[in-house]
Amino acid sequence: MKDLQTEPTLSIRNLTVDIPTRHGILRPVDQVSYDIQPGEILGVVGESGAGKSMAGNAVIGLLNRPAHIAGGEIWLGGTRIDALKGDAMRRLRGKKIGMVFQDPLTSLNPLLQIGDQLVETMTAHLDISMSEARKRAIQALEEVGIPAAAARIDSYPHEFSGGMRQRVVIALALCAEPSLVIADEPTTALDVSVQAQIIALLKRLCRERGTAVMLITHDMGVIAETADRVAVMYAGRLAEIGPVRDVLTAPHHPYTRGLMGATPLASQGKARLHQIPGAMPRLDALPDGCAFHPRCDCVQGKCRQNPAPDLAADAGRSACWYPVGALV
Ligand SMILES: Nc1ncnc2c1ncn2[C@@H]1O[C@H](COP(=O)(O)OP(=O)(O)O)[C@@H](O)[C@H]1O
Ligand SMILES: [Mg+2]
Repeated sequence: MKDLQTEPTLSIRNLTVDIPTRHGILRPVDQVSYDIQPGEILGVVGESGAGKSMAGNAVIGLLNRPAHIAGGEIWLGGTRIDALKGDAMRRLRGKKIGMVFQDPLTSLNPLLQIGDQLVETMTAHLDISMSEARKRAIQALEEVGIPAAAARIDSYPHEFSGGMRQRVVIALALCAEPSLVIADEPTTALDVSVQAQIIALLKRLCRERGTAVMLITHDMGVIAETADRVAVMYAGRLAEIGPVRDVLTAPHHPYTRGLMGATPLASQGKARLHQIPGAMPRLDALPDGCAFHPRCDCVQGKCRQNPAPDLAADAGRSACWYPVGALV
């Protein structure tokens, strides 16, 4: 029997996503494994195209065909969810997993008043009356910092600014008391001036509730501010995973080191550490060996011939033959 005390909220094991094309199968997510504990924020970081969103969408059953889960397992609490279909997945999405996307208008129905959307979500998933749901909707809007929530509950999404809209989305994502929130670039489309507030809000509310968070971002600064652990993805694979302080202060994978150098925050007050030359390979043109080897400043012969070592769950920090600090 599983130990309930230590059971992760989310457990991904060897997750593989395939996209069949006329020219062969692309693999945007390749054997990815990680856990997220209750109340923990896992930052998933990597350059654009690394497979971060595909991995997140696989968890919530929102892969667009022809992309599909081709292998591995996804567990939410004690329930395996990777094979759930249609209605079962939709119910789970609303109830157990909250979602925050880059564009708030993806999550909000432009034709519905925001209060109605909150009430609808709550009455669908919680055993409460309409009037109780409306009361809670006002509370939820207050909690996310919507001024005059009782008056604004009957407003439509377009009546809010981008930042206020994303606050409403966070209220909506949390209103059915999910155990997991997947936030995919939640601040990328917002004014720089409100990004930090939205991240702080998400962090505070999830901490208070013990909600696990998968925070997908290309921004190491956001990770540094927010995450407990960080998973670094490159070309569909996990390059490195570990506690955020360890990974950011002493990255093992040369790619992580490069990403850090590309972050203004990391290089504040210091000389720029690194710039990664070149670009991430396309999925239909992955190099032999370790996918990062053509850009790696620590590359050796083995890296050109052998795929990077597997990064198994609960073991190791980086999928690198010659992790930084261990060079001989
Ligand atoms: N329909 C598709 N056909 C082919 N490739 C796709 C398709 N959708 C996404 N991809 C590829 O999948 C990879 C992973 O994408 P994604 O998960 O969105 O990356 P990220 O979120 O890290 O920026 C990218 O290389 C992207 O080009
Ligand atoms: Mg993405």
